[in-house]
Amino acid sequence: MDDPIGGHPTRGEQLDILVTAAEAVLRPGDTLLDLGCGTGYLAHLLFQRREDVAFVGIDRKGESLEAARERFGVTHGDRARFVEGDLSKIGALEIAGGPFKVIATALTFHDLDDRDKHSVIAWAAERLAPGGALLVYDRVRLTTPATFAMQQAIWQRIERIHGRGMRTADSFVAYEADLSQSNRPARLDDYSRWFADLGLEHQILHLHGNVALITAAKGEETP
Ligand SMILES: C[S@@+](CC[C@H](N)C(=O)[O-])C[C@H]1O[C@@H](n2cnc3c(N)ncnc32)[C@H](O)[C@@H]1O
Repeated sequence: MDDPIGGHPTRGEQLDILVTAAEAVLRPGDTLLDLGCGTGYLAHLLFQRREDVAFVGIDRKGESLEAARERFGVTHGDRARFVEGDLSKIGALEIAGGPFKVIATALTFHDLDDRDKHSVIAWAAERLAPGGALLVYDRVRLTTPATFAMQQAIWQRIERIHGRGMRTADSFVAYEADLSQSNRPARLDDYSRWFADLGLEHQILHLHGNVALITAAKGEETP
């Protein structure tokens, strides 16, 4: 399966790292729940490596889910389930098959406002199996004009090395002006506060440019 957003220069490596981290926690018979699964690229990466785990994906786009069902229904039957749901109405969402050993979300949180991000994290925390982990992979919001030139230099380096750029901006003011309904990444500090509020311990597993993979787990049971 081709990466549906393959133009993103570091996404391939970071999703590989996400699946590597998930694999460290997933035992035979466990399920990974993907919030904002699109056409199921994460399922594709996971099933390439693991025959012994199941996948449930949620997305609000019916057509993406249809494509995913067609692709994985044939090859993986009941092990792959795709459910229509809106993460901004997470309170109304009940998903059979939990608790889940891994709950992941990839490049989707920037579509949600911060209140919804917090609600989704709270919802996920309640549905994590013992020893389970939440994996949030998304852009983080830049907050410091004084260090913006360094961020720009890193974006330029990524473009030099990968031949493709990340989302960029000519100035911090332009960066902020580009924030919108479909581009509102959370600040790293806010993630830290939300996880702490919910009694979750968290750690940044990988950061490239301003795209972070953060994991959170319940206290003592951190794997
Ligand atoms: C950039 S795509 C990433 C898809 C997939 N996670 C991947 O990495 O290939 C973002 C996905 O989030 C979904 N999404 C955005 N907002 C959502 C919401 N409120 N509820 C459910 N899905 C949402 C979109 O429909 C889209 O499929």
